[in-house]
Amino acid sequence: RTDPCRIVELPEYTDPRGTLTVVECGSEIDFDIKRAYHIRDVPDGRRRGAHGHRRLRQLIIAVHGSFEVIVDDGFERDRFLLDDPGRGLYVGPMIWRDMVGFAPGTVGLWLVSEPYDEAEYYRDYDAFLHDARAAS
Ligand code: TYD
Repeated sequence: RTDPCRIVELPEYTDPRGTLTVVECGSEIDFDIKRAYHIRDVPDGRRRGAHGHRRLRQLIIAVHGSFEVIVDDGFERDRFLLDDPGRGLYVGPMIWRDMVGFAPGTVGLWLVSEPYDEAEYYRDYDAFLHDARAAS
């Protein structure tokens, strides 16, 4: 609860050639990026996510299109609409998240603090809830 999810404004440089958007470790994010992945071609109405992480932190950017991220710290739920490539959503550890409402053609980018490790995931909501509530 001390590391809340939040929208991060990203520096942008627009000139007649277009717009360039920056994420730098130590400025826009307080973690080193160990991994990045993107998601596209999400069919209408399909949800993704439905998991939490023990340690992993991430910045999520809708680089094209839009989707919503529902975050849950075990006590409260919040909803963030990502529809601007100039802003990211920071999601800290011990947050259950669902991604919903992907507009057609959306491309989401994830910048992540840890290598991929399935053992670091919560895939069971009740197990997540138990640990999230015990931790605070
Ligand atoms: P999944 O966790 O279901 O995606 P989402 O974060 O949208 O819920 O991952 C889909 C598949 O991709 C699953 O088989 C695991 C694999 N995967 C990797 O191999 N490496 C990765 O870094 C990620 C994020 C997923």
